[in-house]
Amino acid sequence: MSYKKLFSLENKVAIVSGGAGGIGQKIVEGLVEFGAKVVITDIKEVRSSEVEFIKTDVTNSKSVKSMVEEVKSKYGRIDILINCAGVNKRVPVIEFPEEEWDRIMDINLKGTFLMCKEVGKVMADQKYGRIVNFGSVSSVLGHPNHSAYAASKGGVLLFTKVFAMEMAKNNVTVNCIGPAYIETSLTSAHLREGDNYKKIVSTIPMGRLGKPEDVVGAVIYLASDAAAFTTGSLLLVDGGRTAD
Ligand SMILES: NC(=O)c1ccc[n+]([C@@H]2O[C@H](COP(=O)([O-])OP(=O)(O)OC[C@H]3O[C@@H](n4cnc5c(N)ncnc54)[C@H](O)[C@@H]3O)[C@@H](O)[C@H]2O)c1
Repeated sequence: MSYKKLFSLENKVAIVSGGAGGIGQKIVEGLVEFGAKVVITDIKEVRSSEVEFIKTDVTNSKSVKSMVEEVKSKYGRIDILINCAGVNKRVPVIEFPEEEWDRIMDINLKGTFLMCKEVGKVMADQKYGRIVNFGSVSSVLGHPNHSAYAASKGGVLLFTKVFAMEMAKNNVTVNCIGPAYIETSLTSAHLREGDNYKKIVSTIPMGRLGKPEDVVGAVIYLASDAAAFTTGSLLLVDGGRTAD
């Protein structure tokens, strides 16, 4: 057996939601390098000669369905789904605007559900699939001012476990990634306020923030046949943040 080949994504068809974002872009680069044919789905347009882009709003079932049909008819199958679209807003619960709560839940949690539902049908039929959902350390830790984000990411983790159990018979694995703070457009404004950067770094045993590249290897592993017997799990990429 070639253990190296277990990590190959040669000719696999992959969809990356939020693939235009800080972490998503690096995941796309990694998937391409390991041989996958990648389709970026995002509300923000990106142009690249190496990958296809299909504008998709994960909160809209029509948009998700038509994207899945397009990918299926063009490539014939969908092997890998990375659900990386996500948003946050930091406000205490008693001041939290209801519309913002709904928006965060819609993108982070309902978006993950809709993408899993539509791509899951294709994967169940072909009896093969690798799904990686984006949780966070906020899937398991409470941070003040992160109520909607943490509720959505805790939801993504348990949704992942349920879907993993339902899809196991179809040879489809469903796992969750849990990064700690990584500097992207999601976090940069917050990190620049006051002494937030220093304070946040001090909570991470490895003494630094994560980089988008830190997440790529973990995603490639879960998207590959090296992780064929790993499902329903949370892989934390957090510099030890949750170790104590
Ligand atoms: N950056 C961090 O510190 C961190 C930590 C833990 C988990 N995460 C998670 O990682 C994922 C990626 O985050 P990031 O840091 O790259 O953020 P980012 O803001 O750079 O990227 C998020 C992407 O999601 C897209 N998006 C937003 N709404 C969408 C919608 N309705 N439909 C489709 N796409 C939509 C955005 O256009 C953007 O390209 C998110 O799920 C986030 O919660 C990030």
